[in-house]
Amino acid sequence: MKNRRDFLKEVCPTVAFAFFGISFLEACSSGSDDDVETTIPGSGSGSGSGSGGGTNSNGFTKEGNSYIIDLEHSNFTSPPSSMGTGLSNVGGWMNGKSIGISALFLRISDTEIQAYTNICPHQSHDEWTYRNNIFKCSRSGANHGKEYSDDCNSSLTCYNPTLDGNTLNLTIS
Ligand code: FES
Repeated sequence: MKNRRDFLKEVCPTVAFAFFGISFLEACSSGSDDDVETTIPGSGSGSGSGSGGGTNSNGFTKEGNSYIIDLEHSNFTSPPSSMGTGLSNVGGWMNGKSIGISALFLRISDTEIQAYTNICPHQSHDEWTYRNNIFKCSRSGANHGKEYSDDCNSSLTCYNPTLDGNTLNLTIS
């Protein structure tokens, strides 16, 4: 980025006068405007980071609706207790809500993790508990607190992530 004075020095005076007239020449004279920054189009270095890739400090990367998850990251080994027990051990579960993944996870074996929507089929609540093979919606009140089996035969939508070592590939559809 160039400041205004540097810019004016480069273009002053004859060419600029032809285009902008007297008022521009006045701007070319010395003054006390060094603290005024002028952004010259095309002169910036750019700071955009793009999208679709890179390491996410939350332990996953996202591309569209697809996630690549590092199961060794603490967000997946030891989530906040209200979000589950973590996925390190068989029977462990977690809700991805607190890290921006709209899914429930359940480790069903050493080599398999199942995933489900975390949006309640009843009225879209997204907080849950899990016990005895049942996900229970945490919304309180009449007609809430509904329970859904973890066997993918309930109305709780199942996804089919693939597990490669400690990397889980999930597409939410
Ligand atoms: S929103 Fe889940 S049971 Fe009502």
